[in-house]
Amino acid sequence: MTEQDFILKSYNTNKESGSVKWASPSNIALVKYWGKKKHQIPENPSISFTLSDCKTITEITYTKKEAKGFSFDIYFEGEKNEAFKPKIQTFFERIETYMPFLKDYHFKIETSNTFPHSSGIASSASGMSAIALCLMSIENELSDIQNDSEESKDFFNQKSSFLARLGSGSACRSIEGELVVWGKNESIDDSSDLYGVKFEGDVHSNFKKYQDTILLVDKGEKQVSSTVGHQLMYGHPFAKERFEQAHVNLAKLKAILASGDLNEFIKIVESEALTLHAMMMTSMPYFILMKPNTLEIINKIWAFREKTDSKVCFTLDAGANVHVLYPESEKENVLEFIKDELVSYCQNGHYICDQIGQGANQIQF
Ligand code: PMV
Repeated sequence: MTEQDFILKSYNTNKESGSVKWASPSNIALVKYWGKKKHQIPENPSISFTLSDCKTITEITYTKKEAKGFSFDIYFEGEKNEAFKPKIQTFFERIETYMPFLKDYHFKIETSNTFPHSSGIASSASGMSAIALCLMSIENELSDIQNDSEESKDFFNQKSSFLARLGSGSACRSIEGELVVWGKNESIDDSSDLYGVKFEGDVHSNFKKYQDTILLVDKGEKQVSSTVGHQLMYGHPFAKERFEQAHVNLAKLKAILASGDLNEFIKIVESEALTLHAMMMTSMPYFILMKPNTLEIINKIWAFREKTDSKVCFTLDAGANVHVLYPESEKENVLEFIKDELVSYCQNGHYICDQIGQGANQIQF
């Protein structure tokens, strides 16, 4: 597939209005995306677990209007929101070539998250993928596509992911579950820089219903946006090695997912998290997104693993919060450990329990 394949060739505006609604999850990367080229093309491949319960629910109501500019309103958790408008404006500008009907309709975008607002959880992945999916459903309605074939479902998912990527890179990994790869990589057939693909390799039963408990260490705004962070990989002294390492780690992880070797899984996942933060600390300007409590939690996890036979591990996003990953078989013990030893490091004692999920769902009216 190339960019050209995603351009909508024909549609009609006979439909005066309509509504579509999707729930789309967040995802947590195991091999991290950090650094991009023009048009949100990743510098290296990444793979993520799709989450189950941390979701954005978005409804878009479209109403025919006279052509000219884009016209849309955004309501976040029931209230009109002006702050999100520039991001959506940029998104519409980027995707208009692929969705030429965007100027023919006014869009009322109503969105809410299942996780608490200002939890410091990246909502751009779930938020942008939910909008992309809604726009794809509208595209189908305007082009009278009712074809339920596997081929048209694949195209729907691919183009949704392609569009979501143009909103926020990591959002392209939120359309499907349980594991999604984004970025061309030799070890994954059909992998692409343009969209995420469902990981079709063998996955050992150790990873079924894998748990992710998100410890909310810092619920504030990030000091450095991921857009700025990605840019700092240009001319970064370790960029080349880092991008190569991600390819190697993805190939290793593919084998680990098949074998179920949890010790090797831990090594890749924790090293990826620390490498992501090491890139931030060694860019110019440099910055640190971890907080003292992030490190306290990491040390507690290492001590717990040392003391027990647990396979619990951590990963981090571009922030201070810690994702605690563990097999479902350890759920009871690890939750007890979290409550006893880790919750005190969370802001207001807040944490969110989630697990691997199956991807986005359309909500029928
Ligand atoms: O999708 P963005 O541009 O916000 O980038 C996020 C990148 C990380 O979350 C730090 C890593 C990843 O692969 O999700």
